[in-house]
Amino acid sequence: MSEAAPESLGSEKAHLLEVDSLVKEFGLRRGLAERIARKEVAPHRAVDDVSFTLNRSEILGIAGGSGSGKTTLARCLIRLIEPDGGAVRVDGVDIRAHKGAELRELRRRMQMVFQDPYASLNPRMTIGAALHEAGKVHDRPGAENEQAFVSRLLGLVQLTDRIASRKPRELSGGQRQRVSIARALAVDPELIIADEAVSALDVSVQAQLLNLFLDLREELGVAILFISHQLAVIAEVADRIAVMQYGRIVETGPTHTVFAHPEHEYTQALLAAHPHPDPRMRIAAS
Ligand SMILES: Nc1ncnc2c1ncn2[C@@H]1O[C@H](COP(=O)(O)OP(=O)(O)OP(=O)(O)O)[C@@H](O)[C@H]1O
Ligand SMILES: [Mg+2]
Repeated sequence: MSEAAPESLGSEKAHLLEVDSLVKEFGLRRGLAERIARKEVAPHRAVDDVSFTLNRSEILGIAGGSGSGKTTLARCLIRLIEPDGGAVRVDGVDIRAHKGAELRELRRRMQMVFQDPYASLNPRMTIGAALHEAGKVHDRPGAENEQAFVSRLLGLVQLTDRIASRKPRELSGGQRQRVSIARALAVDPELIIADEAVSALDVSVQAQLLNLFLDLREELGVAILFISHQLAVIAEVADRIAVMQYGRIVETGPTHTVFAHPEHEYTQALLAAHPHPDPRMRIAAS
């Protein structure tokens, strides 16, 4: 009998999320010259040997310029796309082991929030109905009482109950993003992957939403993978930061250390572009 009993796989000691040498390649289209010469074009590695861990209730910021592989990484984590190499483990269990109902359960535990809240909200549904439906689909406790269920979620994202009867287009950008966060929370996730979730918003609204993420971590213990091309935004929320360039993590460490002593020249360049977190944010956040 092997030493490690199967039960030990999902042990409490395992990280919530463990990413191990993850690779995702996309085939490049061959140009005419290559096709005539019957030449193969090497695939492009959008995610190239990425490894990191995330603990429960931790906020990890993923920074990096456009095309550095942040969204591709996120999509691999929730198996929207299949990686070409490496492993992703949740509670110590490889996500490839999950099929059917287990995969559905895995997806419930890891919720994504995108830059454009319209992408996750049905324009014809009221906010209340949308939030309630999200809870019902995953059979969440409390979903049998629609009003109480919706009211709790709106409270969590600091919106009033009146929002429940509105449609997405009747809300401001900031309110809409709060609703898409509430929709993610409707299924009691352990991890929220926020992909450029505040990037389209004004600085003052951004600051309010960053505070909301911090409140949610404190109240619910949810872990957050906070993806942004804006280092200054990440500095406001993340405990640790990983900087991506060309699909690789080029630097990682506690946020304050990376900001105080950036070692990689790409991190230095990103910091030079946005030297300090926006002071208006700090005022609004304090
Ligand atoms: N479905 C796809 N097919 C082919 N190439 C892709 C696909 N999705 C992404 N890529 C490529 O992979 C690389 C990483 O893209 P990705 O969207 O992950 O970057 P990103 O860091 O999220 O950028 P942004 O900050 O603009 O959102 C880019 O070169 C992109 O063109
Ligand atoms: Mg992206």
